[in-house]
Amino acid sequence: MTELVRTRAELAKARDALTGTVGVVMTMGALHAGHETLLRAARERADHVLVTIFVNPLQFGPNEDFDRYPRTLEADLEVCRRAGADVVFAPGRAEMYPDGEPLVRVDPGRLAGDLEGLSRPGFFHGVLTVVLKLFQLTHPDLAFFGEKDYQQLTLVRRMARDFDVPVEVVGVPTVREPDGLALSSRNRYLSPGEREAALTLFTALRAGAEAADRGEHAGEVLAAAHRAFGAGAPGVELDYLALTDADLEPGPVAGPARLLVAAWVGSTRLIDNVAIRLAPRS
Ligand code: PAJ
Repeated sequence: MTELVRTRAELAKARDALTGTVGVVMTMGALHAGHETLLRAARERADHVLVTIFVNPLQFGPNEDFDRYPRTLEADLEVCRRAGADVVFAPGRAEMYPDGEPLVRVDPGRLAGDLEGLSRPGFFHGVLTVVLKLFQLTHPDLAFFGEKDYQQLTLVRRMARDFDVPVEVVGVPTVREPDGLALSSRNRYLSPGEREAALTLFTALRAGAEAADRGEHAGEVLAAAHRAFGAGAPGVELDYLALTDADLEPGPVAGPARLLVAAWVGSTRLIDNVAIRLAPRS
């Protein structure tokens, strides 16, 4: 049975009733198979699964899609039921931020200034602030975040360590469409033509990964990925392509690395990333 709770008081009561380990999956709703995979990973690792659904105004910029972000609570509850969630916490804005905009926010530090942070100033302040609040409200033993949002996963991990939050942060691999497009709640904004163009992100990552597999070095890996955007990808505007080490520090020379991309497809901004391994310099 999946219990829906809307207030902190109801959440506290439902959380108290859960014995054993609790895994939390934090979401903004519009749940798809990517979210569902997080729920199932939580189901496997924890005795109980708690899902949060909250479109967090703090992480949207003034010109971003907060108003049009899809809100599909009934369908989301069905996904949660199917995946065996015990509790769904879906608070309203005033429940999460009873004093209005919080005066004090989490400073996400140096790593948040790059990649997503360059195009979305304030984004990670908003994300980490709500994630920390949700940690305090749900007291999870485990928390599941998708690799799809790799910078977010990395920063949540760092915050948990830096702030001594007693939680294990678990990363879950990206779930993709059969052709490779990473599932995202924002994919529903795409017209059929844009949906086709959106595949350029994955094509670029795959080209970079294949170059790394051939033993090419960082410069060539990035160049291979760039070519996918150069090769006439109409309606797609590259924001960034970046190669970092597995902890998002710049300039890996060899070993485990991450290739990350962000691009505009029409008026929709999409992101994706893959793990690669760079051959040692001989
Ligand atoms: P949202 O975009 O709803 O994503 C919720 C979780 O699902 C995140 O951990 C995200 O990485 C994961 N996810 C999304 N698409 C995925 C895919 N294709 N494969 C695997 N996992 C995927 O991320 C947020 O919400 C918010 O920033 C939040 C953390 C809830 C804070 O507001």
